Amino acid sequence: MRAGLLVLLMCAVVCSGGFRPVVVVHGLLDGPKQLEKLSGFIKKEHPGTQVTLVHAFDDLASLQPLWKQAEHLSRLLQPLLQRPGGVNLICFSQGGLVCRALLSISPQHNVHTFISLSSPLAGQYGDTDYMKKVFPKYLKETLFHLCYNRLGQKVSVCNYWNDPHHRRSFLQNNHFLPLLNGDEPHNQSAVWRENFLRIRKLVLIGGPDDDVITPWQSSLFGFYDSSEHVVEMKNQEFYRTDAFGLRTLDARGDVSPCVHAGVKHIVWHSNFSVFSSCMEKWLT
Ligand SMILES: *[C@@H]1O[C@H](CO)[C@@H](O)[C@H](O)[C@H]1NC(C)=O
Ligand SMILES: *[C@@H]1O[C@H](CO)[C@@H](O)[C@H](O)[C@H]1NC(C)=O
Repeated sequence: MRAGLLVLLMCAVVCSGGFRPVVVVHGLLDGPKQLEKLSGFIKKEHPGTQVTLVHAFDDLASLQPLWKQAEHLSRLLQPLLQRPGGVNLICFSQGGLVCRALLSISPQHNVHTFISLSSPLAGQYGDTDYMKKVFPKYLKETLFHLCYNRLGQKVSVCNYWNDPHHRRSFLQNNHFLPLLNGDEPHNQSAVWRENFLRIRKLVLIGGPDDDVITPWQSSLFGFYDSSEHVVEMKNQEFYRTDAFGLRTLDARGDVSPCVHAGVKHIVWHSNFSVFSSCMEKWLT
């Protein structure tokens, strides 16, 4: 009895104060509701953790352009992001790109660990169920027509559509991913890089059975070359030139991939085995 009481008392001190708050950002065509299971895992394993499920750009509103989403979230979450003791971010799917943009444009953020949960970090090129929901009549070979212009760029999916056969148009007419990756130099590159590098740890989660992120290695910063062979992170131009800080982060030992087989895209956040093997230890 007394030992139990002692543990309880210690937990009241250590458990609630011991874990940084966690902010969870949802993906395309979903919202906070889909992330409740993940919130439950965190609170069960790390009692006392304050978990914030972002309730903005939910469902169809998630199709809004990603810069707009990142700027809005940067204002909305400002007090949490700048919390002196730090905060951890878990960002699912499209949300991973929103979070990268958010970190790049937030000079004062104090994000400790950024967990990217099956996010198309290096872009997307594939006909998946999600893409079919958004663009039912288009095939991957033709979608660049729709995406790589001013109008297309007003749809979130087009912001990370990365057609390896239309690289020049991607660089010129995609106003999101090439800027974020520093493929196209711009006057904010150095500032964004510095802001991004304020994180202490980057955790990259993905796996071969995802079925939505294409290629799935995009969740680990790999992507297709013009022959549709996957080039891994370390051989990507943006890594070699350290365009946005990835190489620096990696050299610091602060990029931690976690590949998990057997997980479909929509259940990454709801599978306890993914949580315990890829996320739990970083949420301190
Ligand atoms: C960066 O360039 C854009 C135009 O491309 C300009 O509007 C903006 O003011 C510049 N920002 C800085 C900080 O120089
Ligand atoms: C979680 O994923 C593993 C594959 O790693 C699978 O075997 C298991 O059945 C999944 N659990 C749930 C609850 O879906």
